[in-house]
Amino acid sequence: LSRKPMVAGNWKMNGSLELVQNIASTIKSINNDDVEVVVIPPTVLLSNVVASGVKAGVQTVSEHPLGAYTGEVQASLVKALGATYTLVGHSERRSIYGESNEDVANKFEQAQTDKLIPILCVGETESEREQGQTENVVAAQIKAVIDKLGIASLNDSVIAYEPVWAIGTGKTASPEQAQAVHKFIRDLVSSYDAEISESLQILYGGSVNESNSELLFAQADIDGGLIGGASLKPEAFKIICESAK
Ligand code: G3H
Repeated sequence: LSRKPMVAGNWKMNGSLELVQNIASTIKSINNDDVEVVVIPPTVLLSNVVASGVKAGVQTVSEHPLGAYTGEVQASLVKALGATYTLVGHSERRSIYGESNEDVANKFEQAQTDKLIPILCVGETESEREQGQTENVVAAQIKAVIDKLGIASLNDSVIAYEPVWAIGTGKTASPEQAQAVHKFIRDLVSSYDAEISESLQILYGGSVNESNSELLFAQADIDGGLIGGASLKPEAFKIICESAK
């Protein structure tokens, strides 16, 4: 496989200065040649994570380059402070803050303009799954980016599939359920460009923990994980990272 496994810990609005140090010392023994480990803390802790020697990202950026947008953070500054990645379109941003597919595409574009790698989060709600809409929803979320920015924009990006019903609920998608959607995503991208599809890292997220990560990551089209709750527990996070190798 040409795709490098990756595990990103999304702290959401959790964490502390102490946790930065604990995570950094727990995961420093992981060989980065085998798995790319990323910590995504609240943005105010970004510099601390960078200083700890761990690869870092942020949870969202503004779609604007800069200006009078009180409370927002510009991608260029995030990049200057040493981040490599930013999430875009996490389901909590979509559902709590009303980000549309178009907003997400705009953030994706601004991230790449400022040389951050966007991790595009997609996924269906429980009722969408029950109505058989999973593929339509996920396709629309991805096509919003492709239609605006072209298929080549996926070259410097990562996709994270996170079924909304599995986020923070303890209800993980089964490895087969997750693999089916990951394959759907890879086939969708392949219908535009086979080479980009083959190299695209597609992460699974949604109640991943140290007991279920290995089977999920063993699936052909699952290249690692986007971890919420378990990324706040250094030992669990380390086991999850190791299981992605
Ligand atoms: O970004 C991470 C996901 O929302 C998953 O969160 O692992 O707590 O379910 P969780």
